[in-house]
Amino acid sequence: MPEPVTSVTFPPAFLWGAATSAYQIEGAVREDGRTPSIWDTFSHTPGRTAGGETGDIAVDHYHRYRDDVALMAELGLTAYRFSVSWSRVQPTGRGPAVQRGLDFYRRLVDELLAHGIKPALTLYHWDLPQELEDAGGWPQRDTAFRFAEYARLVGEALGDRVEQWITLNEPWCSAFLGYGSGVHAPGRTDPVASLRAAHHLNLAHGLAASALRSVMPARNEIAISLNSSVVRPLSEDPADLAAALRIDDLANGIFHGPMLHGAYPASLLEATSSVTDWSYVHDGDTRTINVPLDALGLNYYTPALVSAAARQTPPGPRADGHGASEHSPWPGADDVRFHQTPGERTEMGWTIDPTGLYDLITRYTREAPGLPLYVTENGAAYDDKPDPDGRVHDPERIAYLHGHLSEVRRAIADGADVRGYYLWSLMDNFEWAYGYGKRFGAVYVDYATLRRTPKSSARWYGEAARTGVLPG
Ligand code: NOJ
Repeated sequence: MPEPVTSVTFPPAFLWGAATSAYQIEGAVREDGRTPSIWDTFSHTPGRTAGGETGDIAVDHYHRYRDDVALMAELGLTAYRFSVSWSRVQPTGRGPAVQRGLDFYRRLVDELLAHGIKPALTLYHWDLPQELEDAGGWPQRDTAFRFAEYARLVGEALGDRVEQWITLNEPWCSAFLGYGSGVHAPGRTDPVASLRAAHHLNLAHGLAASALRSVMPARNEIAISLNSSVVRPLSEDPADLAAALRIDDLANGIFHGPMLHGAYPASLLEATSSVTDWSYVHDGDTRTINVPLDALGLNYYTPALVSAAARQTPPGPRADGHGASEHSPWPGADDVRFHQTPGERTEMGWTIDPTGLYDLITRYTREAPGLPLYVTENGAAYDDKPDPDGRVHDPERIAYLHGHLSEVRRAIADGADVRGYYLWSLMDNFEWAYGYGKRFGAVYVDYATLRRTPKSSARWYGEAARTGVLPG
């Protein structure tokens, strides 16, 4: 019998987590045998990130992880999602594991477990070893096999102490921002390469999930974190509905088609046929990708609003929230227009719409019946500053979290099996091409001293974690 969920309480076993990723927080980029990843190369290339900022030091988590874990425990978090840097474990992207690299994650995990915090490990959060990019990167089929090998090494080393595994984080961004619009590393702008990358990321996921299964205890959960978009049409006009379906295929169907249903959507193949012939999808690939999962991770920030391009409107900047580039990350969809969803926005310019999270959860409850769900990322950037007493008040973030967690609870009450929520992010960090200017943390980081100060949202969230009830 599932525990009853009242209008205010969450299920007792619900995980209250926070999330981060290796390149965004660790720093120590040249220590213990680590070699450059595509993000080191990209951030050190002039003009690629705001102010030329890099993750060289980031928030120095590599040296401060003990204090960071103590802070999570003090706040009351029960789970923590982090990622492993592939270049620490396999500096060239192949060959045996570097023990010093793995040891860092062993120590981190042991520290978490000692504090009663459940670790969730992401294997790939966008930081491909540069040597593998030099060999062709994700558009190259071999990269998928290299990833499975890396997954096996990490699974063998940490499978005894980490129960929650996430193969890839937001493969859409890796493929379409990395190889399509070029606003993310490696900064390539080739629509065919972006579609090839998407397929090889799918294949990498399938191969890695099977590799993990073969080396880990059966109790461990294997999942993937998708930035599954909530795509809304501007009107009920059939042309707008068709535009929304097109973007839905490119954002969602391209991943969950093969993963959950064993095939790419026919509508996707057709809509992209002028761009690619998909000949890089080999026989049996979609079976490999369709490996059974134990859970699905959903990352949600804002919905997308689209229409068919109105012929009389002059072309304007895309409002898809994925950074400025002359190159579209949406292959075969040049005739689709993105609009700003009305309403208040965060510092990223992303409209706040908690109902999108409810819609996403209920969609996947229908599409993947029986598959437990986690919200593996959700959060907001605000221009937080300490007050004269050094305290950081962020009522907007509290309102954002309250709104979104209320929608998670509503979805649970309506029958969705959501097992946990990971706030993005534990602390302020390197927001990719935006550098350090966008603060997503529940904990404020003073970048001059690297001192951490919990914002009022961190206290608010900690209270929710301790009581299972949203305060206020
Ligand atoms: C998604 C990514 O996984 C994470 O790395 C990023 O910082 C947040 N969204 C906010 O943009």
